[in-house]
Amino acid sequence: MRVLVHEDRAELAEAAARDFAQRAGEAMDERGRFTVALAGGSTPRTVYELLVSEYGDAADLDWSRVHAFFGDERTVPPDHEDSNYRMARETMLDHVPIGSVHRMRGELPPEVAASAYEEELRGFLEEEPPRFDLIMLGIGPDGHTASLFPETVALGITDRLVVANEVPKLETVRITLTTPVINAARAVTFLVAGEDKAEALREILEGDSDPRIYPAKFVQPDGDLTWMVDSAAASLLENPGR
Ligand code: 6PG
Repeated sequence: MRVLVHEDRAELAEAAARDFAQRAGEAMDERGRFTVALAGGSTPRTVYELLVSEYGDAADLDWSRVHAFFGDERTVPPDHEDSNYRMARETMLDHVPIGSVHRMRGELPPEVAASAYEEELRGFLEEEPPRFDLIMLGIGPDGHTASLFPETVALGITDRLVVANEVPKLETVRITLTTPVINAARAVTFLVAGEDKAEALREILEGDSDPRIYPAKFVQPDGDLTWMVDSAAASLLENPGR
């Protein structure tokens, strides 16, 4: 596991875009394609915009061999302002000649959408559980990641790849990858910025609290695990960079 502390959000975004492009190149060299599950929320926005502005040219990154999936989705239509797909489409997917985009269909009944996405994953990623080259994640101030929220049912599910997860505190249902899929990834990169994440980050990286309270602690992938954080989010860490 690596923890990389960057001065601010801008530096974090630059590093994350570079990491994405580097991993994409390696995956294409080794397997002819790059499969990535994109993170939702606000932190990745700048990363996606940078991937267009700094790596949008096919000479830098062969986008035709990039295949984009999602780590989670809200139960809303694809054009809804809360849709993770809409955010990724507007900041990146509409601006690069990408190979394929596989969105979670938030407009469907949640369990239907979850089952359909499981089939889509199995159809595209041969291994079982499906192995992404990269899964990008964030964390909330409560320590959730993807839509694995504290003390929700999805945390205990290990025989599914994708589930509809009821989130009582948000009075909603989310569609999310489960921990087996996340932990099967060749690489997982967390993007964490802001003072409001400092307490959760300290608990996740240095605390001994129950992962059911800080679900990002369940993310222990077989592959690379990289935490890309800014100095504000790292401000409570005993030993930040490692
Ligand atoms: C979502 C994300 C979620 C996000 C964290 C951090 O659907 O919102 O998957 O897990 O990564 O909530 O969000 P911010 O980047 O907006 O702080």
